[in-house]
Amino acid sequence: MKFENLLTKNFDDIIGQETVKKQLKSALLSERNIILVGAPGIGKTTLAKNVSKLMPKHDEKIAPFIRVQGSPDLTAEDLLGDIDPIKALKFGPTSKEAFTPGKIFEANNGVLFFDEVNRCSEKLQNTLLQALEEKKVTIGSYKVDFEANFVFIGTMNPEDSSTEPLSDVFLDRFDLIYMDYPETLDIEKAIVLKSGKSMLEFPEVLLNGCLRFIRNLREDENVEKKPSVRASIGIYERAQTNAILSNRKQVTIEDITAVIISVVSHRIRLRPSIKYLKKPETYVKEEFDKYINREKGGFL
Ligand SMILES: Nc1ncnc2c1ncn2[C@@H]1O[C@H](COP(=O)(O)OP(=O)(O)OP(=O)(O)O)[C@@H](O)[C@H]1O
Ligand SMILES: [Mg+2]
Repeated sequence: MKFENLLTKNFDDIIGQETVKKQLKSALLSERNIILVGAPGIGKTTLAKNVSKLMPKHDEKIAPFIRVQGSPDLTAEDLLGDIDPIKALKFGPTSKEAFTPGKIFEANNGVLFFDEVNRCSEKLQNTLLQALEEKKVTIGSYKVDFEANFVFIGTMNPEDSSTEPLSDVFLDRFDLIYMDYPETLDIEKAIVLKSGKSMLEFPEVLLNGCLRFIRNLREDENVEKKPSVRASIGIYERAQTNAILSNRKQVTIEDITAVIISVVSHRIRLRPSIKYLKKPETYVKEEFDKYINREKGGFL
């Protein structure tokens, strides 16, 4: 498999992130294994899925793009496959009668996309390493040789505390590509308009105001966990439906005020020094009130 087709194509599903796109292209062209790293909702999965639309041809067939969702329940059988011991005696362990191939084999000559790789167990990380490194896997009591000829694209959110930290040995096998929040307000607006549902008029000054509020929270030193692009999309959609329910023809500041806490407060985490004094709901409400008063000219 060669990704030369990428020289003339782009990852059009992702708005902005030009440096990331270039890095991803260079990694794919050199067929190196990579992990896309970044906070929730910044487009890691969307970018990786975009690769699936640009898979090159291999032996006249479009190369496979196989997705695996990382989770603590993911087993070695899911990834490698299963050998039926009775049929193995009769037909041989790698015969098609005895062997049910796992995702790794399906991805051969293509891409193995491992979403949220740090959510799988350490044991599975080691299984994966062995497959990448030795091109041999152990299934049950059988050692099976196989051509591990695939490009690995993983994603991970480094702040996800419910996950296994990836070991240094593991990380040393990959290049990491770091993604950040949308570079500018205009880029974020384009993402919101593309990904969010449009139901009635949302005046641009108001939308700009909402996005500026979210982007200010990302810069706020009291806010430890930042609101993601999903928060921006959420305000965009919920303010519209609130306006519909209030029999309005277009979104007003009241609609935004009515939904802001529900959309934003659980998506942020305050720094410990302020967390014990204020709940996030209170913090978002106060900040939003202050913001409206300050920005009246531009926002209303
Ligand atoms: N740069 C971007 N261009 C286009 N859409 C984007 C961009 N960033 C985020 N989105 C949109 O934001 C939403 C979340 O994106 P996505 O699911 O890819 O994020 P993620 O990084 O995989 O998040 P998580 O870590 O929570 O899985 C999607 O609706 C996606 O379309
Ligand atoms: Mg994702």
